[in-house]
Amino acid sequence: MVYIRLQGHNYEYDVGALVKTFYFNRDIKFISDKTLADSQGLLIENIVTNTMNGYKVITKIYNNQKEMSEFIIKDINSIKILDNNSDRKIKIAVKQSIYKAISKISEVNAPWGILTGIRPTKIVHDFLDSGYNSNDIYKILTEQYLLNEEKSSLILSIALKERKFLYPMDRDRFSMYISIPFCPTRCLYCSFPSNSLVQWGKLVDEYTDKLIFEIEQVGKTLANRRINSLYIGGGTPTAIPAENLDRILKSVYNIFDRDKIREVTVEAGRPDTVTEEMLEMLKENKVDRISINPQTMNEGTLDLIGRNHNPEDIIRAYKLANKIGFDSINMDIIIGLPNEKEEDVINTMEEIIKLSPNNLTVHTMAVKRASKLREKIDEYSLTQQRSLERMLDITKEYAKKMKMEPYYMYRQKQILGNFENVGYSTKGKECIYNMAIMEEKETIIAFGAGATSKIFYPNENRFQRVPNVKNLKVYLERVKEMIERKKNLLEIS
Ligand SMILES: C[S@@+](CC[C@H](N)C(=O)[O-])C[C@H]1O[C@@H](n2cnc3c(N)ncnc32)[C@H](O)[C@@H]1O
Ligand code: SF4
Repeated sequence: MVYIRLQGHNYEYDVGALVKTFYFNRDIKFISDKTLADSQGLLIENIVTNTMNGYKVITKIYNNQKEMSEFIIKDINSIKILDNNSDRKIKIAVKQSIYKAISKISEVNAPWGILTGIRPTKIVHDFLDSGYNSNDIYKILTEQYLLNEEKSSLILSIALKERKFLYPMDRDRFSMYISIPFCPTRCLYCSFPSNSLVQWGKLVDEYTDKLIFEIEQVGKTLANRRINSLYIGGGTPTAIPAENLDRILKSVYNIFDRDKIREVTVEAGRPDTVTEEMLEMLKENKVDRISINPQTMNEGTLDLIGRNHNPEDIIRAYKLANKIGFDSINMDIIIGLPNEKEEDVINTMEEIIKLSPNNLTVHTMAVKRASKLREKIDEYSLTQQRSLERMLDITKEYAKKMKMEPYYMYRQKQILGNFENVGYSTKGKECIYNMAIMEEKETIIAFGAGATSKIFYPNENRFQRVPNVKNLKVYLERVKEMIERKKNLLEIS
């Protein structure tokens, strides 16, 4: 147990998230009085006081009641951020002092500094919007937010690249997401909406009808706006019959002229769902981008994570897609899969480079609460931080060899080793939707079970989330309600 006592502020949520990056596997308890801490535990005390010289922040860490570390910020005016808002400065000083005090005694590396959110690039956009130049932003990231040099350069370069696609912002432009929450089987690590076809396949036709109804009803409200990108994800969209997916795509094109949509992506994902009939149908519907996701090219790991396919299936599906004319193919991999070593990652990358995709998305394993992996976590040994770092470096080198650069990134809760997920792309093959969903600078209208719409208000630089229900059966019963919620907001936005 890690005990935390805060005094003079109430940034519990932020402090909790920061402490968790160092003490990943330990429970955290906030206490109001030192005496409530177990004498055997670790206690982090953080106190803000208003002195004659301004606000002062002190962090002290005790182990078994013995003081182990201390870090003091004598005056919060040393903090340089976007504005002079003293609450914001206090929050940053609190996090800085805790970060520095823990860093003195911890073996854990926290390369993202005091940033704990899932979209670290957003802060770079805020600085760029306020007129800061790249050198100033780099300095603020490394000195105030305490990111290491590599992560600072990564988010700066990604944000600069993204702006060419996302700016100028426009109220009338939006992107569309359609969720197909079915999969052939459920993978060990997954927490996405994925209902196994074996059990839920009987609902696919009803789901298709209700989804199309939702698209048509909400689509009427959007007909005057411009659709930027369309992304069909899941689950595994290609797990349902080609004719169902064909009807879904056509329902969108009945409302929005296909040729005016800049990009259409369908996540094919599992190679066992990538048939010639499916690919021909996608091509006929002018789908620009697809994903064929190995996760790993090691057969033993594929069996262990329950993918139901082998590395040859990936190669077959990829070559078939190439033959049918797809020239924008993404491949997802996960670093930190159970039992994988560096040589397994090298093998995966060697197999991928032979196929030469133009997009590669490198995920770091996240142990999600709703996954089977979490339930059986004691049966697996998780990859250690240093090993993960070397594995991620390997993927970086191979991406470079394939002439790819990072173009979007995000972090996740419960991600191993405090790392991140990075999307790489060759020049001109960046996925617009991936950037739009990460940066939250464009309205996303989402359809289907588990899909969340985000209505963007550019003048106020804010957005409002409108989630659809996750459960498949509940979605089928309550689709009209999902429609009304979105229509009401879109009419007034
Ligand atoms: C929404 S999933 C859908 C992809 C598709 N159904 C497939 O499995 O090929 C998108 C990607 O997220 C990644 N992913 C899913 N769960 C993850 C986890 N717990 N940790 C890290 N990456 C994960 C996988 O690489 C996966 O391809
Ligand atoms: S990783 Fe993909 S295929 Fe596996 S359960 Fe999740 S969504 Fe389905």
